[in-house]
Amino acid sequence: MKKDFILILDFGSQYSHMIARRIRDIGVYTLLYHYNDIRILHIISKNKPKGLILSGGPFSVYETGSPLISKDIFQLNIPIFGICYGMQLISFLFGGKVKKSKYKEYGKSCLIIDHPNNNIFYGIPEKSIVWMSHFDEIKNLPKEFQVIGHTSSCHIAAFSHISKDIYAVQFHPEVKNTEYGISMLKNFVFHICKCDSNWKLNNFVQNTIYDIKKRVGKKKVILGFSGGVDSFVTAYIIYQAIGNSLNCIFVDTGLLLKNEEEKIYSLCQKMHFPIKIIDAKNHFLSKLTGIIDPEIKRKIIGEEFIYIFQKESEKIKDVEFLAQGTIYSDVIESSVYSNNSISCSIKSHHNVGGLPKKLMKLKLVEPLKELFKDEVRKIGQKLGFPKEILYRHPFPGPGLGIRVIGEINEKKIFLIRKAEDILLQELINSEIYNSVSQAFIVLLPIKSVGIKGDKRTYEYAAILRVINTEDFMTATFAHLSYNFLEKVSSRITNEVEEINRIAYDITSKPPSTIEWE
Ligand code: XMP
Repeated sequence: MKKDFILILDFGSQYSHMIARRIRDIGVYTLLYHYNDIRILHIISKNKPKGLILSGGPFSVYETGSPLISKDIFQLNIPIFGICYGMQLISFLFGGKVKKSKYKEYGKSCLIIDHPNNNIFYGIPEKSIVWMSHFDEIKNLPKEFQVIGHTSSCHIAAFSHISKDIYAVQFHPEVKNTEYGISMLKNFVFHICKCDSNWKLNNFVQNTIYDIKKRVGKKKVILGFSGGVDSFVTAYIIYQAIGNSLNCIFVDTGLLLKNEEEKIYSLCQKMHFPIKIIDAKNHFLSKLTGIIDPEIKRKIIGEEFIYIFQKESEKIKDVEFLAQGTIYSDVIESSVYSNNSISCSIKSHHNVGGLPKKLMKLKLVEPLKELFKDEVRKIGQKLGFPKEILYRHPFPGPGLGIRVIGEINEKKIFLIRKAEDILLQELINSEIYNSVSQAFIVLLPIKSVGIKGDKRTYEYAAILRVINTEDFMTATFAHLSYNFLEKVSSRITNEVEEINRIAYDITSKPPSTIEWE
């Protein structure tokens, strides 16, 4: 399908992927590339993007080793929009001066537009709220540029080239707190780059089924099925293309939510595709006995998962393809992880840990790898998936293994599973489930004194964690009512023997992460 396309060069901002999402939301196809990708000029000449966006980033453009790009990019005659670091970079490359600013600006600021007729500000009021996050600022603008907007503490908050289609802003139009951010992105994409809004999901499924049929033919495909919406949609699409040549394998690690394997089985039946469930509960438990360190736990679970999956896949003859439910944010995250120069690894994620040589020899089928989560959900909705699949909260690969803090044993898994089940019931009964992004229990390795039925108890303490987030990279704790918190706490401490205390986690990410381990 021929589609208009905007290319984003990523300089490591935590908001880069948001630029991509916003532009997809307005119906234009976009991809994010690392600023240093050696294929960039080739990609540009082959795919002919209608516009380039230079993202923000955590660097100072004047420091040695900071990310730079070739000035040739300005000779391509493709419209360019620089955001934050991208703005400073444009100015720097044209010979302008960037310095540490006297006042760091983080948060909301009032933008005053100096050139209301400038294309990037079409239809935007002269004063509006924008979201700033910077510690450097432009001191001298190169002569080819004009200032088109300022704030009380940032004299050059937006500029444009006097004759070329080059625009830049110091603030973040991709962040929702920028009142007219979407309008600015629309102005760039539609008025300046002249894109058509032709990124539509309607044809995606038919095209993908056709492509898979053509590529896979009569060969066999194996899929490690996780039970999340991504793997359901992946499996469904591939099954439509090749039928029973698809082999879905679901590994029951014993670290799953209550009755998860039965739920998965019946949902697959509902959606009419076959799945094989492998019971590896005892295997995982024995490998994890005595292990306390979270990173070692993660590593063991990841490796054992691959081991079991590989053993099962060897039982199927003539497999040539490995299917994965990879979505676009996984692609972005794993490329960031593999390049420590722009970001550092916080936790070793189960699904980006790498595959053994044998499985790596298989060709990959990743039908969703260009889609964001909300796009996958929209497709699932079009395919008639039930809400319980579409809006399932994400569940981490290492499962309850990283929610039981410290050493895992059968008893603790039993307790946390029961407590999580109560939480889930209450979220659904109170109609809160769909309005929060993720909710779970963390079982602590400490006991505290309590009283139940007039008797002293000495039982485990547990944490309730409920968060809201747009992208799981940053998150805030959910502001739940005291009544709800009281109900959950009371039910868990009454119904789960051996838990006598619940605390609510009120930290954001950052500084905390969503999971505790
Ligand atoms: P953190 O704890 O890193 O979690 O703030 C962000 C999101 O990722 C989920 N998570 C994982 N998902 N494999 C996964 O598939 C993993 O190893 C993993 N670790 C964390 C977490 O539940 C949250 O949604």
